[in-house]
Amino acid sequence: MPNASLVIANWKMNGNKALVKEMTAFLRDNKEQFNAVDVVVCPPFTLISDLTRECYYDDIAVGAQNVSEHESGAYTGEVSTSQLKEAGVGCVLIGHSERRQLFAENDEQINRKIKSALSADLQVVLCVGENKSQRDAGETWNVVSQQVKNALQDVATDNAGKIVVAYEPVWAIGTGDTATPEQAQEVHENLRALVVDLFGEIGNKLPLLYGGSVKPDNAKELFSQKDIDGGLIGGASLKTDDFLSICQAAQ
Ligand code: G3H
Repeated sequence: MPNASLVIANWKMNGNKALVKEMTAFLRDNKEQFNAVDVVVCPPFTLISDLTRECYYDDIAVGAQNVSEHESGAYTGEVSTSQLKEAGVGCVLIGHSERRQLFAENDEQINRKIKSALSADLQVVLCVGENKSQRDAGETWNVVSQQVKNALQDVATDNAGKIVVAYEPVWAIGTGDTATPEQAQEVHENLRALVVDLFGEIGNKLPLLYGGSVKPDNAKELFSQKDIDGGLIGGASLKTDDFLSICQAAQ
């Protein structure tokens, strides 16, 4: 079990400078309500510098939603690990289901991105999850375990301390149709065993996050499950009150 709970906001392609100011001021004013929780906000690339400026004196960390597998060169539209680091980013989401589905990212590419991010000393949040038909066919663990094994192939145990795994059932993302705490815990328990198998004892310290329609009214029950160490929050991370309630629920 990790030392602190972790809550990560994924703003996706939402937000603006005003939201950066509003959210950071709100979190700062209410920080005592979630002192024991590590909070990361992943805005779109264009808002990273605004967020790092606002978070300079705060405990809120800045993350990115994606990164290139390449270090530099003719890759129009891409952003490298070193550019993220220079901008003040400490962690990066890799393999989000929207990247897999809408931008055709595959496990091999995700594995290369992870290795590149780890060598730049970025914390990696590996996102995995099954879709509806895979769940209905009883393939959830096959799909999820394969995604994890492929993504972490040849990742050295020395780097395990920089890895977070976020389980996000695709059918629960943005649908309001969240996994039950029991469904989520079942996968997380298997994930815990898998990361221990891959990395040994340090696997017990890897934060395992749940994502998919986490809201103020279901966060507490999800986060109270034995192997759920926090959440990856989409829609609810754009609303100050909702996001604060979710951070409190992880306390
Ligand atoms: O990265 C966040 C997840 O995709 C969850 O999104 O909370 O809007 O369902 P959601």
